[in-house]
Order: sequence, then structure tokens, then C-alpha cells
Amino acid sequence: MTTFEYSPALESRSIVSIQPEYGHFINGVFVTGTNHFVTINPADEEVLSRVALGNADDIDRAVDAARIAFEATWSKMPGKERGKYLYRIARILQERAREFAVLESLDNGKPIRESRDIDVPLAAAHFFYHAGWADKLDYAGLGHAPRAHGVAGQIIPWNFPLLMLAWKIAPALAAGNTVVLKPAETTPLTALLFAQVCQQAELPPGVVNIVTGDGRTGAALVDHPGIDKVAFTGSTEVGKAIARAIAPTKKKATLELGGKGANIVFDDAPIDECVEGIVDGIFFNQGHVCCAGSRLLLQENIAAEVLEKLKIRMAKIRVGDPLDKNTDLGAINSRAQLNKIQTLSQAGESEGAERWSPDCSLPKKGFWYPPTIFTGVTQAHRIAREEIFGPVLSVLTFRTPQEGMEKANDSPYGLSAGIWSEKGSRILWAAQQLKAGVIWANTFNKFDPASPFGGYKESGWGREGGRHGLTAYLASAEENND
Ligand code: NAI
Ligand code: MG
Repeated sequence: MTTFEYSPALESRSIVSIQPEYGHFINGVFVTGTNHFVTINPADEEVLSRVALGNADDIDRAVDAARIAFEATWSKMPGKERGKYLYRIARILQERAREFAVLESLDNGKPIRESRDIDVPLAAAHFFYHAGWADKLDYAGLGHAPRAHGVAGQIIPWNFPLLMLAWKIAPALAAGNTVVLKPAETTPLTALLFAQVCQQAELPPGVVNIVTGDGRTGAALVDHPGIDKVAFTGSTEVGKAIARAIAPTKKKATLELGGKGANIVFDDAPIDECVEGIVDGIFFNQGHVCCAGSRLLLQENIAAEVLEKLKIRMAKIRVGDPLDKNTDLGAINSRAQLNKIQTLSQAGESEGAERWSPDCSLPKKGFWYPPTIFTGVTQAHRIAREEIFGPVLSVLTFRTPQEGMEKANDSPYGLSAGIWSEKGSRILWAAQQLKAGVIWANTFNKFDPASPFGGYKESGWGREGGRHGLTAYLASAEENND
């Protein structure tokens, strides 16, 4: 097959200025930190900067600042005024969009096409959307005189660093909470740039605090007696540890954890569109997506045709420099994540599934994995049950629609699912059977701030986004007085 050779079309990195070292952002200013560690560009292992490893004292200072800001300023401010700050932040994110996109791609490894067209615009959209909520809380059926919880401790992962920050901070602030946020250890830089946006927007000091660090910093935040609510996105294992840690306390929590989304193709599906949806479902963001369509369930009589077309399409995926505008699949975020993908893929092979990847040359430096599919996968295989969180698709088949539903639901997770069929009645029937928080029909991986997102079973507690997500940051007046 002929493929066109594209000349590289590199996005310039001159728009970002990265400091050699960062401290934490507490009470509206950057303060020095200790025990700095490096954050690298996973595409070439270049050291980008050194960030501080937050300890219990840093968390304590940040929570104090957030508490004072909550009591003295933010909770007293009319919602309409809070909304103005959120609008201002949203507009600054748009104005500085290219800077954020380049920095995100450098620190995370994701293609600029995605950080530019998805992560950053959606992050701004979350602030716009929640800005509109800030002055309507009393009139929208959110309970009698809804009130903020107080200080929210927020912990985010590395797969969508700025977007997850927006998912956490925008609703918290709209509802009148103040926050202490801890970004992931491999991707702290856009959160630190966001701290500068808070300064630029003249957000009152202490409303947003950012403490960098690793799991120990996150645990210190969860354990701090001064926080009222925990919002976490990350692994199911850490989610369970957080649930245990807060069980004896009055802290509220939302947990957004792993997934093993079923992408289900019925034999009446439009095959060409569906192939695009399969690619989008698993290769978007290198498959580092909690709601990825990582289990493809094909109705048996069309399986061969779908797989043939999928392989032709996969051969056209361009893997390489995240800053090249032609790139579809960027770098794996860390060596640890690459090891996990390799281990699970190895398990797939040794348990009897068949691996296939197109011919593609991977860069020598950095962390890379080719787009991969496994066929002949059974329900018992590890690659059908465990979250791989990489560009690896497990393909299973089913004969009857009922069998398809049973296989789709046979998972400890229940975050997302996709249904491909031309029949509306079949789509509605399947959507009712599926135990998944988000279900897409004839599309995949579509996000909107107005739409609630979250899971069943081991995929977590609660919802983020939309009106449902907002309620997680609010309590009724009665509840707050207990
Ligand atoms: P992780 O759950 O350890 O990390 C997520 C965040 O939690 C990071 O900010 C981390 O510093 C923090 N953290 C770690 N231990 C903590 C603790 N005890 N208390 C409080 N905070 C803590 O995830 P990791 O190790 O980066 O990835 C492991 C696997 O988790 C991935 O391979 C993937 O399967 C899954 N994952 C799922 C995500 C999702 O969006 N659902 C996001 C990231 C990872
Ligand atoms: Mg990094």
C-alpha cells in the first residue's frame, strides 16, 4: 500500500517559557519547596524542569490558606461575582491556548493535534460552563439553600493534566468551595502555568492552591483534617485506599477510577464509520483514557470484515513527535506506564491471544508503543479484564445481541460503552442493558461539560460534569449545620 510521506510540521515551542525549578502555589504566590524532582518530556526523556515534592507542612499551609479564603472571601462573595472570575479564567485559557497546548504536549507526550483541539478548548469550556452556574445555584433544584462544602482536596492523574484540573477546579469554585489541588508527578507543568492564570485573573489569594508532589503528597492531602471533600481521578487501587482513609471521617468524596470500556459492534452497523470510532476509542491519547473503548466486541458474522478494515486504517496511524502536527499517536507518558503495557501485552500472548501491529518505526529515545490489537481474546484473559491504559485493543466476538450484552457487562468496571448499530430500537435496548456510566451510540469519546461523567462498580463514585457533577460540591443548608 502507498502511504504519502509528510514533511514534519513542527509546532514551535518558543511560545512556552519553562522555569528550571518550581515551588508550590499557595495563597496566591509561588513559594519555595523542597526535595525537588524532575519532570521530563516522555518523547525524548529531556528534563523539562524540577518541581517540589510537597510534604505534610506544605499541604498544611495550603489547606490553611484555602480555609481562610473560603471563610473570609469566597463563601461570602455573591455567585454572580464568583462567576466573573470563572469567565475571566476561561477567556485567559483561550487567549493562552497555544502556550498551554505546547506545554501539555511537552510534559505529557500527547500529540499537539489533541492538546490543541481537545484538551485546551475543553478545559476552557468547563470554566465557561461552570461560570454560568455560579449565580443560579439557588434556583436550579439543587436543594434548599445549597452551600459549598468548604475546602476541597483534589488529586488528578497524568493523562489529561489541564483538562482534569478544569473538571475539578471549575465546579468547585462555581459552587463556592476553595481548593488545594495536587497534579500528577509526571505532568505538573500546566497546573503551574494555570497558577499564573489565577494570578492574571486576580483571583483572591487562597481560592486555588497547587501543591506538586507524588502519592505521598496526595495521601497527606486526603488525610488532612482541614479538608471537607476529596475529589480524585486515578487508579482504582488508590481510589480504594482513599475510600478507606476517609471512611471514619465526615469528608465527602467523588472517585473517578479505571475502566475497561466495551465498544460493541452489531452486524447492522455502518462499518466504515465504526472503524473510525474504534480507532478513536482506543488510540486517542495513546489509550491513556479511563473511558477508552479497550474491549472491542464484534458480532461474529461481521468480525472478519471489521478487522480487515481496521488493520488497513491502523496502518495509517502516524506515531512520532508529539509536536508534529501530523502525529496521531504520541509518546507513552512514563517508563512505568510503558512497562505496564508491555507486561500486560506479554500476558495476552502467553495466555493465547494473537497480537498484531502495523509496520511502524518507533523513535529511539523516549517511551513508545505501537498501535496494537489482540484477537482471539476470551473473557478470562487478563487483557480482557485489566485496564492496560495504552494503545492496545482486545477483540472479542459474540453471536447474539444478548450474549454481547452479557460479555460487555462481565467486567469489574462500568465506566463507558459504545454501541454501533443502524437501528435506533437496538441502540436503546442495548443502552438499557449496559452497566456503564457513559454510553455513546455510533460515536466514541465525545465529551461535553454539560454531560455528567462517572462510573458503576470499580469505576468509582459520583459524577463529574453537568448538574450532577455540581451537586457533589454542594450540601443543603441543613447538612452543613450538622
Ligand atoms: P495513581 O492512581 O497512582 O495516580 C493518580 C494520582 O494519584 C497522582 O496524582 C498520584 O500522585 C496520586 N496518588 C498516588 N497514590 C496516592 C495516595 N495513596 N493517596 C493520594 N493520592 C495518591 O495512578 P498511576 O500509578 O499513575 O497509574 C497506574 C494505573 O492507574 C494506570 O496504568 C491506569 O491503569 C490507572 N489510571 C487511571 C486513570 C483514570 O483516569 N481513571 C488515571 C491514571 C491512572
Ligand atoms: Mg512530564
